[in-house]
This record gives sequence, C-alpha cells and structure tokens, in this order.
Amino acid sequence: MRKWWLMGIGAALLLTQGFAMAAVKVPPKQMSEETKECVKCHKKNNPGLVQMWGSSKHYGANVGCYECHQADAKDPDAFIHDDKKVKKNISIIVSPKDCANCHEIEEKQMSASHHAEAGILWALWTTCLPKWLRVIWA
Ligand code: HEC
Ligand code: HEC
Ligand code: HEC
Repeated sequence: MRKWWLMGIGAALLLTQGFAMAAVKVPPKQMSEETKECVKCHKKNNPGLVQMWGSSKHYGANVGCYECHQADAKDPDAFIHDDKKVKKNISIIVSPKDCANCHEIEEKQMSASHHAEAGILWALWTTCLPKWLRVIWA
C-alpha cells in the first residue's frame, strides 16, 4: 500500500515540481544534533538506509537526514514526526527543489540557462531516487 501512496505523491510532485521546501541551504560545519537523533533511532528500523547514507559524500559533508528532510512549518506536507527527541518539522518527500537549496551553485556554474539547470537537477534526483527506493523496498 505504501508503495502506491508514494507513487501518487511522486506523480503529484512531477506536476507541481516540488511542494516541499527544506530550509537548509548550506551544509553544517559538523553533524547536526537533529541528524544524530534521526540516525540513532533509524539505525534500528532502517539499517540499510542509514548504512548507505553513512558511506555517501553527503555524510562526509555533514549533510544528514535532517538537512534533507527538514521542512518549514508552512509546507503542506510538513509534520512533527518525532515529538520526544527532535520536535522539528520534517517532510517525507525530498523534492528536487530541496536538493537545489544546496546544489544550485554548481548548476549555475555549469550553465547560465535555467532550463539546463532544471534538467541537470532532475537528472541528479532521478539517479539518486531509485537508489533510495531500492533500499527502502528491498
Ligand atoms: C525516536 C525514534 C525516531 C527518531 C528520533 C526519528 N525517527 Fe523517523 N521514524 C521512526 C520510526 C519508528 C518510523 C517508521 C514508522 C512510521 O512510518 O511512522 C519512522 C519513519 C520516518 C520516515 C518515513 C515516514 C513515513 O510515513 O513513511 C521518515 C522520512 C523519517 N522517519 C525521517 C526522520 C528524520 C529526518 C528524523 C530526524 C529529524 C527522524 N526520522 C527521527 C523513528 C524515529
Ligand atoms: C541527500 C538527501 C537525503 C538525505 C541525506 C537523507 N534522505 Fe531520506 N530520502 C531522501 C529522498 C530523495 C527520499 C525518497 C523519497 C522522497 O522523495 O522523499 C528519501 C526517503 C526516505 C525515507 C522513506 C520514506 C518512506 O515513506 O518510505 C526514509 C524513512 C528516510 N528517507 C529517512 C532518512 C534518514 C533516517 C536519513 C539519515 C540517515 C535520510 N533519510 C537521509 C533524501 C535524503
Ligand atoms: C544541505 C545541503 C545539501 C542538500 C540539501 C543536498 N545536498 Fe547533495 N551534496 C551536498 C554536499 C556538501 C555534497 C558533497 C560535495 C562533495 O564532497 O563533492 C553533496 C554531494 C552530492 C552528490 C555527489 C555524491 C557522490 O557520491 O558523488 C550528489 C549526486 C548529490 N549531492 C545529490 C543530491 C540530491 C539528489 C539531493 C536531494 C535529494 C541533495 N544532493 C541534497 C549538499 C547537499
């Protein structure tokens, strides 16, 4: 059931091009306290996902769970997922726009055209997404 639900969101995302806007725009200097809490807990129920993240460049750059999944309280899909430890809004959907918060500078260097930027970001996202999903649904 979860699969269909996520696919529906994915389809909606294609149409609206990212309704979730994470607020984190630069990687923190060290792993954030929020991310440490996410990891502590998610090691238990998503060991594969945590392990994959642990060997990624994002991990090396202190870009953690919270940096990608963080949401603004105003976002329609924002929710307080864990009200004991982290108590911050997150969203399940991490859209290409969220990635663009940090990656737009690189994109701009590659091309001055907005169209090309969008294309590159989209390519980034679609190459990463299947990796995540494979772990989640395996
Ligand atoms: C105290 C434990 C705990 C902490 C802390 C925690 N999570 Fe979770 N999280 C869970 C559990 C258990 C689930 C699976 C149950 C569920 O789907 O609600 C889950 C599910 C999720 C989901 C999928 C939700 C869904 O409905 O499919 C996401 C995304 C997520 N967590 C991200 C995060 C992020 C990001 C953080 C840190 C800001 C975090 N979690 C902190 C325990 C935790
Ligand atoms: C580089 C950004 C990024 C980082 C870092 C990241 N995620 Fe995600 N996460 C995503 C994307 C993209 C998806 C695919 C689904 C989506 O569009 O949100 C996803 C999906 C998930 C899901 C599945 C949601 C579901 O309902 O099946 C969970 C759970 C989750 N992430 C938890 C975490 C945890 C825990 C961490 C830290 C160990 C983490 N994420 C780090 C981007 C990220
Ligand atoms: C908080 C900032 C931030 C966010 C949000 C973010 N990234 Fe990154 N990303 C980075 C940094 C920093 C690096 C490391 C650059 C390096 O060391 O080369 C990186 C590296 C990458 C790499 C290269 C990884 C490798 O192993 O070669 C890819 C691909 C990437 N990000 C895609 C994404 C995607 C897709 C999203 C959204 C789901 C995303 N990023 C969200 C900051 C971020």
